[in-house]
Amino acid sequence: MLLDRKARITKTENWGSYFLISLATPDIARQSQPGQFLMIKVSSSLQPLLRRPLSIHNRSGQEIEIFFQVTGEGTRLLGQKSPGDLLDILGPCGHGFSLKPEFKGKEIFCIGGGRGLAPVYFLARELQTGGARPIIFYGGQTLSDLPLKSRLEEAGWTTNFSTDDGSFGFRGLVTQLVEKELKGRKPAFLFGCGPEAMMARLAEICQAARLPAEFSLESNMGCGLGVCWGCARKIRKDGKTGYLRICQDGPVFPAEEIIWDRD
Ligand SMILES: Cc1cc2nc3c(=O)[nH]c(=O)nc-3n(C[C@H](O)[C@H](O)[C@H](O)COP(=O)(O)OP(=O)(O)OC[C@H]3O[C@@H](n4cnc5c(N)ncnc54)[C@H](O)[C@@H]3O)c2cc1C
Ligand code: FES
Repeated sequence: MLLDRKARITKTENWGSYFLISLATPDIARQSQPGQFLMIKVSSSLQPLLRRPLSIHNRSGQEIEIFFQVTGEGTRLLGQKSPGDLLDILGPCGHGFSLKPEFKGKEIFCIGGGRGLAPVYFLARELQTGGARPIIFYGGQTLSDLPLKSRLEEAGWTTNFSTDDGSFGFRGLVTQLVEKELKGRKPAFLFGCGPEAMMARLAEICQAARLPAEFSLESNMGCGLGVCWGCARKIRKDGKTGYLRICQDGPVFPAEEIIWDRD
């Protein structure tokens, strides 16, 4: 059930253009699943009018966290919020990642490119709770694009880092690192979130390796509630192509259904 709440900010952290905000919102926290998102009103004035979609990054007791990068006016205003402020949120929205009982005891690859790490943290925690072994891949252009590096290390998961410029971890794209690791490991599933080109390449890698996968897609959103079709995405299902709404039918889709923007 979708809830409309005023959530109090309890904590904020910031690294350059990246922000982590904790929100006290017991009933949304209770209902949230990894891969679901919130529609957030970033300003009490009419500008910007539209709510902005942000993934649920973590659940901790009665609180949830969001992790985001400033990319425009809405996220810039959100980054100015302080502990004690109230945030108007709608959620949890959409369909999240499929957490299957058969993952128990298996290695599951979880890939986050840049701010795409946002839903991956919650996902890895829930996989672990279900007895699976998450193997994390966190890639960015440079070390400052990996602000959640220590958080992942503290969680104790096997984590592989990559930077395009080699300032930390593997030098190169996170997709190249996944390809390399697949030579020595046989995970049962792969989940990914990040730039479209990263996910499109991961889908090719998974197809070649016969590895089932799901990806969390992004889109500009109008309503976030399945009404306006502003987030429509061409999808291939049962041999037919058609349109689905990222906000309502996704944002997470099976790899084989996604028609990538570059196709
Ligand atoms: C399901 C989902 C989950 C996401 N999760 C995360 C996350 O966890 N972390 C993260 O960093 N990012 C996430 N994103 C991306 C994030 O939503 C965008 O970066 C954010 O909405 C950008 O908003 P902005 O106002 O800062 O940028 P802008 O580029 O200014 O605005 C983004 C879009 O909002 C619309 N818009 C803005 N202003 C107007 C206007 N005046 N009139 C009409 N439309 C307008 C436009 O479509 C515009 O392209 C997610 C996206 C989706 C779809
Ligand atoms: S944003 Fe309106 S239907 Fe998805």
